[in-house]
Amino acid sequence: MIQLTVNQKKYDVDVPEDMPLLWVIRDVIGLTGTKYGCGIAQCGACTIHLNGEAIKSCITPVSKAAGKNITTIEGLSPDNSHPLQIAWLEADTPQCGYCQSGQLMAAAVLLKEKPNPTDEDIDDAMSGNICRCGTYPRIRKAIHIAAGLQKQGGNK
Ligand code: FES
Ligand code: FES
Repeated sequence: MIQLTVNQKKYDVDVPEDMPLLWVIRDVIGLTGTKYGCGIAQCGACTIHLNGEAIKSCITPVSKAAGKNITTIEGLSPDNSHPLQIAWLEADTPQCGYCQSGQLMAAAVLLKEKPNPTDEDIDDAMSGNICRCGTYPRIRKAIHIAAGLQKQGGNK
């Protein structure tokens, strides 16, 4: 049995130690906001936070997450009030939406580390997150909007 803390809630999961964390989150715990894209750390659709760092859950064995804090898109804010969530709506960012939870989770770490990111900072931080719909300009715009909101005290 492995004990996980996901979005501040504890779960005991009976799974093989090497099972990818993504499968545990989606299929065992039932949080399906985190997506599977490639399974080989190339697309970023499965990005979550492990102890506050953005990681690719498709290549992370569940055993590595035991005893650590996992945050998924469902836990980014309790009520969709994270500055990024507000900004994402304002910029009308998603197209098909498939990559977007991973994009948001990567952007959340960027904003925590660099509250006023430049375009270059954004491109660097988001380079591991692919969008097949090409929403990159709107993602960039939304991150700038969120940085402004965060500065006004809208951060959670
Ligand atoms: S599914 Fe994990 S990086 Fe693509
Ligand atoms: S919005 Fe469709 S893959 Fe990014």
